[in-house]
Amino acid sequence: MSAAIEFEQVEKRYGEKKVVDGLSFHVRPGECFGLLGPNGAGKTTTLKMLLGISSPDAGTIRLCGEPVPSRARFARARVGVVPQFDNLDPDFTVRENLLVFGRYFGQSAAHTRALVPALLEFARLESKAEARVNELSGGMRRRLTLARALVNDPDVLIMDEPTTGLDPQARHLIWERLRSLLARGKTILLTTHFMEEAERLCDRLCVIEEGRKIAEGAPNDLIQSEIGCDVIEIYGPDPAALRDELAPLATRTEISGETLFCYVTDPQATLDRIKHRPQLRYLHRPANLEDVFLRLTGREMQD
Ligand SMILES: Nc1ncnc2c1ncn2[C@@H]1O[C@H](COP(=O)(O)OP(=O)(O)O)[C@@H](O)[C@H]1O
Ligand SMILES: [Mg+2]
Repeated sequence: MSAAIEFEQVEKRYGEKKVVDGLSFHVRPGECFGLLGPNGAGKTTTLKMLLGISSPDAGTIRLCGEPVPSRARFARARVGVVPQFDNLDPDFTVRENLLVFGRYFGQSAAHTRALVPALLEFARLESKAEARVNELSGGMRRRLTLARALVNDPDVLIMDEPTTGLDPQARHLIWERLRSLLARGKTILLTTHFMEEAERLCDRLCVIEEGRKIAEGAPNDLIQSEIGCDVIEIYGPDPAALRDELAPLATRTEISGETLFCYVTDPQATLDRIKHRPQLRYLHRPANLEDVFLRLTGREMQD
């Protein structure tokens, strides 16, 4: 089967500034694909072009096989969208929000009404059906937005920062819900600036910065190819002096704020040097996606 989403050499300018700059990526049916990048990287602009809300200055886009923007309307019928900022109707109840949304897809009220119990169950909002949106917690609102995106039984879900602003518990519940959608064969494109989210959920991802792709691949492949060894994080006074001392034992070192990162193939050698120094705290861990990002951009991702 052909790609669910094709983005080929796409460009978008606002004034003089290229906010999406020759970006290409393909999403296969049934996979979870992540667009990972800091604020202002061009994630939302990319999704808006994909949905036909904003026109690219160059490049070609296909969504569910349909060319966008020319046939975006047809593609959208098979797509569910979770926007970056919830646009639920605050005066309506949870149930009413779902019913109203079904109308946008030309579904009969009876058809959507029959779907509501399953959507409420999916969103774990069975007990909140008659609650108004402004009585819901942030996590509940996000789950309602997610349930609403399923009203038309879409093949593809497009989500802009689905868990930004949620506490860890609410975030875990969204992750679990997204995994159940993937198990049902849905295709998901999501944006995030949380590395942990991308690492847990995405089959493949592309890291973007200033509208350009700086890396693409499966999270573990990126971690192996970009880092490929363990990391020891050390916190303590004078990280620069510590770096001079420990650099010979490491493949690479990096200082970020008050933390010295030692990338090491032989962790024991470094641990032996630091373990009896009470002024140092340290963490020995496998490499992760955050290390990849730090490596690629030379700085930590901004919140
Ligand atoms: N409508 C617009 N007009 C002008 N500049 C915009 C507009 N929308 C976004 N931008 C700019 O484009 C860049 C990318 O924005 P955006 O796609 O929202 O990034 P992200 O979603 O990754 O945070 C930012 O520098 C932003 O200020
Ligand atoms: Mg955004």
